[in-house]
Amino acid sequence: SPLSRLVVISNRVAVPKARGVAGAQGGLSGALNSTLKKHGGIWFGWSGEASEQNGSGGDGGNINMQRHDGVTTATIDLTQQEVEEYYNGYANSTLWPLFHYRIDLAEYEREFAKGYERVNERFAESVCPLIEPDDHVWVHDYHLLPLGERLKSRGLNNRMGFFLHTPWPPTRLFVSLPFHERLVDSMLHYDLIGFQTGEWLESFLHYCRKELNANVDEDSGRIELNGRVTHARAYPIGIDYNHVLAQCDTQEARAAGERLLASTRDRTAMIGVDRLDYSKGLPERLDGISRFFDTYPDRVGDLVFIQIAPPSREDVDSYQRIRAELEQKTGQINGARSEVDMVPIRYVNKGHSLADLCGFYRASKIGLVTPLRDGMNLVAKEYVAAQDPADPGVLILSRFAGAAQQLTDAVLVNPHSPDDISHAIRVALDMGLEERKERHAKMLVTVKDDNVQEWTANFTRDLAEVRLD
Ligand code: UDP
Ligand code: G6P
Repeated sequence: SPLSRLVVISNRVAVPKARGVAGAQGGLSGALNSTLKKHGGIWFGWSGEASEQNGSGGDGGNINMQRHDGVTTATIDLTQQEVEEYYNGYANSTLWPLFHYRIDLAEYEREFAKGYERVNERFAESVCPLIEPDDHVWVHDYHLLPLGERLKSRGLNNRMGFFLHTPWPPTRLFVSLPFHERLVDSMLHYDLIGFQTGEWLESFLHYCRKELNANVDEDSGRIELNGRVTHARAYPIGIDYNHVLAQCDTQEARAAGERLLASTRDRTAMIGVDRLDYSKGLPERLDGISRFFDTYPDRVGDLVFIQIAPPSREDVDSYQRIRAELEQKTGQINGARSEVDMVPIRYVNKGHSLADLCGFYRASKIGLVTPLRDGMNLVAKEYVAAQDPADPGVLILSRFAGAAQQLTDAVLVNPHSPDDISHAIRVALDMGLEERKERHAKMLVTVKDDNVQEWTANFTRDLAEVRLD
């Protein structure tokens, strides 16, 4: 029933002390923070810290309970070895690249898989005593795919849902993962599985049918295997629209916007905001900007590009490599294109608060969001929400972000094509007020209506209602 308490479980929990710079925590923790503030309940996950207490007492280790802003969080530390094998290893060196279609970057190490299973077991052990019989349990993201099965094998009978914040890759890529059948079979213990878009949902259903021989009803998303029934559906995540608007209205946002405008003078500001992640297409974005400068040399002085890119998952090799590549590329472009009083690309590794970002979004006449693959991309939606409806900026958006399924009035690009990005920048710079207003108004409808509260309401309603037979 809607009266059930919600127990949310994710690897990353937005506790003030969590490791990692403020603002590098990504879309999941912001969305769940909004969800729990509204809904109440418990949010369980990793503290972000490594310590040597390892839960060998059979209770999963010490739980740190805190209450702030009306949200109760419960977190555990992991050991250094668990962080290596589960977080840096299986989650972020195996599943993250695989789920973003990058099997060239995926590492299939047996130790990673074993560590992942052990940490999922430990999560189950720790959170189990916090769950009451009527609670609805909602597990999030690729770190915790088998957790529902682990909880049910401990005798819990609660309704359990799962939401994947990333894409789900095509079957032909997914089968490169050793023991893929076992992993997906464990997911089928959830009562409801949510994806960001119909495309990822379709891939998942295809996999269940083709590889597991499950009985799949494509229309309702009902999946039956060995007498067990689950449902899979698409629930595109949104932003906390009112919260973003309120942030836009703060003194901090205004100051941030003014600071940016004062420094760009008569040039048009174009902004990108992304965790420093290879899925975000940052080198390709810079190639597109470089192509723009080559193609329209007389317009170099018109544009300044600001890329906010807080480092993420810094202990993982592929993240160290992408960072080095970006430093090299920005240096190269700025070296070739700067004047003594003008630098075309500002590359900022510091994370910023949402209020600062709102100020930057509004001051930027172009928002450049070009991931090679992204489950949704909330920055695109925040950029739209933060615009002045009377004089809005232009969103350039990758076709391969989940958000492109909804924001069809953005200037859509193929992020792999420098020519496409270059052309889109040209189009955005030259777009007249009427067309900007029209596109923005259409996008605003979905950003405003399909917000994070709707997402939560839709998922939790279905979780309470799905028939289990
Ligand atoms: N973000 C932030 N500060 C930063 C950079 C990003 O608060 O310096 C937030 C941003 O506002 C957005 C989230 O991080 O809400 C990124 O979510 P998105 O879905 O775009 O990508 P993800 O990081 O989850 O892959
Ligand atoms: C993406 C993932 C989240 C993750 C976030 C930040 O949004 O879907 O699960 O929390 O990135 O990454 P991090 O590894 O710092 O938690």
